[in-house]
Amino acid sequence: MSLPNDFLWGFATAAYQIEGAVEQDGRGATIWDTFCKQPGKIADGSSGVTACDSYNRTAEDISLLKSLGATAYRFSLSWARIIPLGGRDDPINQAGLDHYVTFVDNLLRAGITPFVTLLHWDVPDELDRRYGGLLNTSEFGLDFAHYARVCFQAMPKVKHWCTFNEPWCSTVLGYNVGQFAPGRSSDRSRSAEGDGKTEPWITAHTLLVAHGRAVRIYREDFKSVQGGEIGIVLNGDAVFPWDPLDPADVMACERKLEFTIAWFADPIYKGDYPTSMRKQLGCRLPIFSEEEKALVYGSNDFYGMNHYTSNYIKHKPGTPDPEDVAGHLDILFYNKKGYCIGEETQSPWLRPCALGFRDLMVWISKRYEYPKIYVTENGTSIKRENDLPREKILEDDLRVRYYEEYVRAMATAVSLDGVDVQGYFAWSLMDNFEWAEGYETRFGVCYVDYENGQKRVPKRSARCLRPLFDGLIREV
Ligand code: NOJ
Repeated sequence: MSLPNDFLWGFATAAYQIEGAVEQDGRGATIWDTFCKQPGKIADGSSGVTACDSYNRTAEDISLLKSLGATAYRFSLSWARIIPLGGRDDPINQAGLDHYVTFVDNLLRAGITPFVTLLHWDVPDELDRRYGGLLNTSEFGLDFAHYARVCFQAMPKVKHWCTFNEPWCSTVLGYNVGQFAPGRSSDRSRSAEGDGKTEPWITAHTLLVAHGRAVRIYREDFKSVQGGEIGIVLNGDAVFPWDPLDPADVMACERKLEFTIAWFADPIYKGDYPTSMRKQLGCRLPIFSEEEKALVYGSNDFYGMNHYTSNYIKHKPGTPDPEDVAGHLDILFYNKKGYCIGEETQSPWLRPCALGFRDLMVWISKRYEYPKIYVTENGTSIKRENDLPREKILEDDLRVRYYEEYVRAMATAVSLDGVDVQGYFAWSLMDNFEWAEGYETRFGVCYVDYENGQKRVPKRSARCLRPLFDGLIREV
């Protein structure tokens, strides 16, 4: 079992979750700033106002990465720091742009390869007010393309670009469930506006077309000179049939992967949405115009894979609910025999099951002809970790075990299944703002002491990755 000798590994974070400094140096507001201000939206009533204060601690974060042996770091840019109002005719904020240019330079000086995500959910708030943000396919696409161009131009040393992070979350959680910004939903107890039957499909279409636009710009105007690569980051949980002997559950598994992963990946690798989605959603699923198809089809240089957990899938009888986004099935942690997929964590949706990781990498590889994969996120929270005394938090053995099992599952997929994985990022470098869960859920390999000046202290898991990768990466 081994990994290629140029394999990159490190940790991942996202701007809104770690930076804080939301009003510093001319940053504009994002939909998450606005969402967090609404009472009841965030579990502990918190927000990213201070978070880990990473905007003011870049040197410390780089030293931390270095001390843990990371060879790469995945982080996201805050669009609203660079173009505070977000639009293609709006002014650029030089201070915000310079901040990231310097950060990239300093990472490279420390021998750490930057993987830069252009948008990790924090859409500039003004674009939401101006034209409905992701609901406006043409305007959003043009504004995003402009923003992407500004970034490509300013940061030629970046060789790995990700357009969007987990569009499934932006669309389903933001426009159907209403749990994430901008919080729209058909459920009027959650949101005064929104239509969960149509908006997730429209906003996903917007993100795909905007991704295609940014990729075209990179390929036409920057790639040949800068020599980098660009792709999208998709989340996806692995699936096992609730009853492996029931063909309907086996089919439901496939449908679940199509409704979450292939929803985005099929248009990119195959040119259209999956048939199962068209069948269930009919004309609610947008149709790609010829121009859009030309933008989206073939637009990934690599597949960014975010992965955390597995589920048992049980088919549902009857006709699908019009609000359904999953493919008309139940998503469970127990199978027909009563076996549980993995132990509980602090995240209600996450239970460790490393076997699923290998399985899913194989599914992606077969469906999309063995693309180059970067595992752009993988990690776990721990049940009640936040309630433990600090010395106990630092002994995060469950997380150590999680990383060992998942990284080995990945190496197995590379060695035995022919899967082409070339990089891995643990989520996350440090505890941070876990969106609607606030700060109660910790995902970091480093503890962040929010009461004492955001001090970072490595947990046991922070130091388990270097020996793990040293043992797996082939010597030349
Ligand atoms: C995926 C998201 O990209 C990240 O922002 C989040 O914190 C982790 N999952 C953990 O939930």
